[in-house]
Amino acid sequence: MADSKKTANLTIGDQSYELPIHSPTVGPDVLDIRKLYSQAGVFTYDPGFTSTAACNSTITYIDGEEGILLHRGYPIDQLAGKSHYLEVCFLLLYGHLPTGKELEDFENRVTNHTMLHEQMQHFFRGFRRDAHPMAIMVGVVGAMSAFYHDSTDINDPWQREVASIRLIAKMPTIAAWAYKYHIGQPFVYPRNDLDYASNFLRMCFAVPAEEYEVNPILSRAMDRIFTLHADHEQNASTSTVRLASSSGANPFACIAAGIACLWGQAHGGANQACLEMLKEIGTPENIPEYIARAKDKNDPFRLMGFGHRVYKNFDPRATVMKQSADKVLELLGVENNPILATAKALEEAALADPYFAEKKLFPNVDFYSGIILEAMGFPTSMFTPIFALSRTVGWISQWKEMLDDPQNKIGRPRQLYRGETERDYVDIENR
Ligand code: CMC
Repeated sequence: MADSKKTANLTIGDQSYELPIHSPTVGPDVLDIRKLYSQAGVFTYDPGFTSTAACNSTITYIDGEEGILLHRGYPIDQLAGKSHYLEVCFLLLYGHLPTGKELEDFENRVTNHTMLHEQMQHFFRGFRRDAHPMAIMVGVVGAMSAFYHDSTDINDPWQREVASIRLIAKMPTIAAWAYKYHIGQPFVYPRNDLDYASNFLRMCFAVPAEEYEVNPILSRAMDRIFTLHADHEQNASTSTVRLASSSGANPFACIAAGIACLWGQAHGGANQACLEMLKEIGTPENIPEYIARAKDKNDPFRLMGFGHRVYKNFDPRATVMKQSADKVLELLGVENNPILATAKALEEAALADPYFAEKKLFPNVDFYSGIILEAMGFPTSMFTPIFALSRTVGWISQWKEMLDDPQNKIGRPRQLYRGETERDYVDIENR
């Protein structure tokens, strides 16, 4: 942690306490309150962690006001434009851009771990056919700890490394198989002569009865979706992975916890919810009614795919994703798709509405990724699994960083207790 001579003074009653301030390499200073309870006997209150830094990190930096997202210092638009997903995975995991040799070695290692233990097929088949692919992913990823015992010891750096590679490599296979099972088609095995994104598209869309040619523009767009979702600092699912891991749980269990958290509509589930909302809106004429509902304090409805906890001007991932969306729609000749027409009209209507401007609510990455995935032919239920497979590298990088941090402690928040004070048990006949 960067040391600094700066301090803050906190006065409670007639007592003053000096709190150290840590200065990051970039971003706001951080008040160190670790000794607050032992010295002053008070807790801090911050539901949703809106003002709390829970860890040290060197992986990702976000400036929400300026719309900046850096991975290991590199801006997301440069990575999305010039790099590709597996190179970004290397960067997130190891902290530097790989040399040609390092990248080749990394890609080989990932490629050689894409197959699943054959017995895992039985595990997939145990789910109901109509199971949501995210439900299958939570279960199957958690079950990896039962199939890959030799990479569950978190105290062994080699096992940690193998678990990381396995998770990144197998996640596309797991997501694609969850989809295949869901639609009743045979599982398609990974092919090691294809790049990461092409392999995923093939495992999702190929059938044994026909040849499948991967369209390079779609594969590039897929790779971009993976890249743009690769990591996002201490968001809810990443914090969940860190919290699960803080107790010493194995990596597969921790990533399964992250997937479960991602599923919610306020987080990774927003891409599915957004497309479902667009379908419900139906045609552009209905947009004013939905905008009015989103603004009505008595209506819980929110415009899905709009707003972000951290980005308050624009989401830099959304800017890149929007360009990708335009290309994909043109390529597929689906510019006239009614859902996409509604999406464009909604984007324009919300951006022109003072409510959204005042509250700094802009389309986020999930608004545009949903549009691309819809155009590619993915059902909405696959949107969040695709987010989960992309984010796996972020979760893993943060998990590894945490295990190497000497300040790592079991996560144990405190509370503002507002319940009953102590009272005596009342026998049932006297209640
Ligand atoms: N539609 C209408 N009003 C909204 C929306 C929305 N999508 N988002 C926020 N608001 C309003 C909210 O009602 C509140 O108004 P007021 O100040 O009058 O009470 C104000 O804006 C601030 O909202 P908040 O809920 O306090 O903000 P938050 O930082 O806790 O929530 C959010 C961020 C992303 C959960 C929220 O904007 C939201 O629910 N958006 C829709 C879901 C979504 O698209 N999520 C994906 C996020 S990007 C992918 C990811 O990283 O997971």
